[in-house]
This record gives sequence, structure tokens and C-alpha cells, in this order.
Amino acid sequence: MKNEQAMGANESGLFQTHRSDTWWLEPFLTGLGFLSFVIYTTWAMFQGDYYWFSAGHEGFGGYLSPFYSPLLFIEESAAGSAPLLHAWFGSWPEWMPNLIPVTPAILILAGPLSFRLTCYYYRKFYYRSYFLSPPACAVTGVPQKDYKGETVLLVVQNLHRFTLYIAIGFVAVLSYDAFLSFFRNGKIGVGVGSIILLLNPIFLAGYTFGCHAFRHLSGGRHDCFTCPKGKEKVRFKIWQSVSWLNGRHMFWAWISMVWVALTDIYVRLVSKGIWTDFSTWGN
Ligand code: FES
Repeated sequence: MKNEQAMGANESGLFQTHRSDTWWLEPFLTGLGFLSFVIYTTWAMFQGDYYWFSAGHEGFGGYLSPFYSPLLFIEESAAGSAPLLHAWFGSWPEWMPNLIPVTPAILILAGPLSFRLTCYYYRKFYYRSYFLSPPACAVTGVPQKDYKGETVLLVVQNLHRFTLYIAIGFVAVLSYDAFLSFFRNGKIGVGVGSIILLLNPIFLAGYTFGCHAFRHLSGGRHDCFTCPKGKEKVRFKIWQSVSWLNGRHMFWAWISMVWVALTDIYVRLVSKGIWTDFSTWGN
């Protein structure tokens, strides 16, 4: 016991524990990292401008910020907005309630956000970092009078398996945006932005297809994976690949989240003319 106290173990107060390592570092850093992402995303969502770059050309192709994709409606008068041909349903409609800020991002961000917020990994870290429930393994957190698991308020977390389908849809849409980024005014080429936009759906796919719910879809309800034959053999291979991604879910969660924000920052800066997009198109 003397030894544990000498090493910094705490046996009284909020964070009672016999642990003497820096157990608080991980919940602190993950909490801070995610909070920064939420603050930036919220700011970017409300801007409603500079989410598109095609060097002033109106033809097919350009860079679209992932925070604004898919573009359902466009307010064409906004600075740095996409040409109308890229909007799924045309101009910002008059029937849209005034309460909704004129920014295309506000119409779609709930989709990917609902997937992340109900993800098993995210749940682990935000219960720890924000609710101290508990802050870490073998560390006492905020006392819970009557724990009911995820059967009361947090029953909504069970929707994760459905938000998976939304996330798969976003992977498809962002893959199309990556394709679009290899064109400018209808001419094929490549720019730094094309590479950034290409990596975005790749990282996102690594995160989405390593989802626990997708692992269940690909291999759940099957108890005989040691005797695969025919169709089952293919299924077994898919399940193995999904399991590989799943084992690295935390890595994919972070790289895809950081990258989506960096992609928005890149598009925003080149659209504003603050950065130059080096490319084979020349301008
Ligand atoms: S468990 Fe993390 S995305 Fe499904």
C-alpha cells in the first residue's frame, strides 16, 4: 500500500483508484479532440460559403467540402458556392422556414453525426471523458443512483444499426465527390485537393465497414465458420476483412474524423484564395 501511495495512487475523493499510471491522459485528450471537432464542425456548418472550389469554372468538376455533401439546395449568391448543376434539388427554396439558416450543411450533417454519436467506440470515450461514468477502468466516477443501462434515456443508442445505412450512403456520395475532384471544367486532371478528397471516403469506408453492426451483418448468426463452402466461403472472407477493420476501429474513427475536417479546411482555404491548389490544370 505504501508503495502505491508513493507512486500516486488515490484512495479518496472523486477519482478513487489504486492505479498509479496516467489513466486520465486518454479520456482528457480524446474529450478535448472531439470537442475541438464539434466546435469546428458547428462553425463550418453555419458559414454557408466557401465550400466549393473549381477556380471559377462553371463546367463539370471541382472540390466540394464533405461537410456540405450531398448538396440538396444551393444559395447561389453565397461566396464560394457550387454551380447550380451540382445541387440535387436546385436553388434554396422559398418554402424553407426562415428559422433554418441558409447553409446547405445544416440539412445533412445530422446523418453522419448520428452515426458517430451512437458508435460503440465514441460511446466509450464520451461516457468516460464527459460523464465520468466511469472516467477509466478501475477508477471511481460520478456516482449513479439507479443505473438502468441503455434502457431509458440512452435507448436511442440502439439506433446505431440503422444509422449504419445512412453512413454507407455517405461513403457512396463522398466517393462520387472524390471522382468529381479529378475534373475541372470537364477536363480530367489531378490537384492536391483531388488527393485529399480521394483519401476522405477511403478513411470513412475504413471506419464505416469496421462498424460492429456491419460485422454482425456480414457474419452474425453463423456458427460454423470452420466449414465454409460456396457462398459461405465468400461470406467468411468478408467477415474476416470486416473483423480486421473492426480490430482497428479506434484508428479509423480518428483518422476519418480528423480528415473530414482537414478536407473542409483545405477546400475553404483554396476557395477563399488563401492557399494555392497545385494541379495539372494550372489554375
Ligand atoms: S460501432 Fe463504431 S461505427 Fe458502428
